[in-house]
Amino acid sequence: MRNSFLPFALPDIDETELAEVREALESGWVTTGPKTKQFEQEFAAAVGAKHAIAVNSCTAAMHLALEAIGLKRGDEVITTPYTFAATAEVIRYFDARPVLVDVDERDLNMRADLLAAAITSLTRAIIPVHIAGLPAELDTIHEVARQHDLPVIEDAAHAFPSSYHARPIGSISQFTCFSFYATKTITTGEGGMICTDHDRWAERCRIMALHGISKDAWKRYTAEGSWYYEIIAPGYKYNLTDIAAALGLAQLHKAERMWRRRQSIAACYSAAFAQVPALQVPYDQFDRQHAWHLYMLRLNLAQLRIDRAQFVDELKRRNIGVSVHFIPLHIHPYYREVYGYHPEDFPVAYNEYLREISLPIYSKMTDADVQDVIDAVLEVIAQHALM
Ligand SMILES: Cc1ncc(COP(=O)(O)O)c(C=O)c1O
Repeated sequence: MRNSFLPFALPDIDETELAEVREALESGWVTTGPKTKQFEQEFAAAVGAKHAIAVNSCTAAMHLALEAIGLKRGDEVITTPYTFAATAEVIRYFDARPVLVDVDERDLNMRADLLAAAITSLTRAIIPVHIAGLPAELDTIHEVARQHDLPVIEDAAHAFPSSYHARPIGSISQFTCFSFYATKTITTGEGGMICTDHDRWAERCRIMALHGISKDAWKRYTAEGSWYYEIIAPGYKYNLTDIAAALGLAQLHKAERMWRRRQSIAACYSAAFAQVPALQVPYDQFDRQHAWHLYMLRLNLAQLRIDRAQFVDELKRRNIGVSVHFIPLHIHPYYREVYGYHPEDFPVAYNEYLREISLPIYSKMTDADVQDVIDAVLEVIAQHALM
């Protein structure tokens, strides 16, 4: 057994990040400035988007996207229960209603065939979530969205670098929102990006990310100087700092290497677990690129004497840090109380949650770390599987 704890997630930070951040600090420009511009430009190029607007979280990115489309109180936005708090809370910011549709048990992504039935005259947008970094069924989602003239806002917090039918995630929908939170596939500590090809929406997001201040106003109306600005709406304070963007640039430059490493860790895990009856390895699809932000193992509980919580404890006892993704939204007190949900309202989300465990998967892991995880999982199985 390992004698030191293997964290569930760790960022891959080396001299390149330190050099970029040092350059930002030494330049004297520590908040939004040239590094942020460069990060936006390079990220837009990496995902094939016309506009990339850097913000301080994916939550902020999704909030601004919904603001840009003019979401109002009483409107509805369709998403899934199998996600993190952020996806639905941004809808609630507007006093609008998150309408949940259940997920596909194979990949835990939105069931596109349930979408049409969830659309009403109040629906204003669809937010699919690419769970773990495997893109949702975007063709079908877009087909339904087009029929009802609805924008698609992808929650791509897990999905860089991912692609769907050879198109990078970030280049497909009206909006794509990325996260650079500490545990994500590239990190700026806290950070996010809004990608869109739509000029007016991009401009609105840019303005609302910084207090609703229109820079164009002074460009158009005065030649006096840059001190003048106009507030055109009560905006937010969502801008990314140059210190964070510097970190992001270094991470972006090694994103491909980090992705390859995660992909190879996922392949090792799946090779080790695919034939174990008590385990179900993650679903992959040949027509899309998985970012492997998470490796979501599922337990076949009928084959085990212990439940998921005990399985987690057994791995922790063996010094392996694991996590659970996600406690579905509809079983949390807030959503239960406001909307009267019961666990069985979204049976796939609920039942898959009961048997999910996320294993460590990050580029800093050594081969020995990967083997330790495999050994620990197989040991727990050997001790607790029903024969
Ligand atoms: C699916 C999903 N969406 C959104 C977010 C929010 O990202 P951020 O922390 O950058 O706001 C997360 C964060 O963990 C997430 O997992």
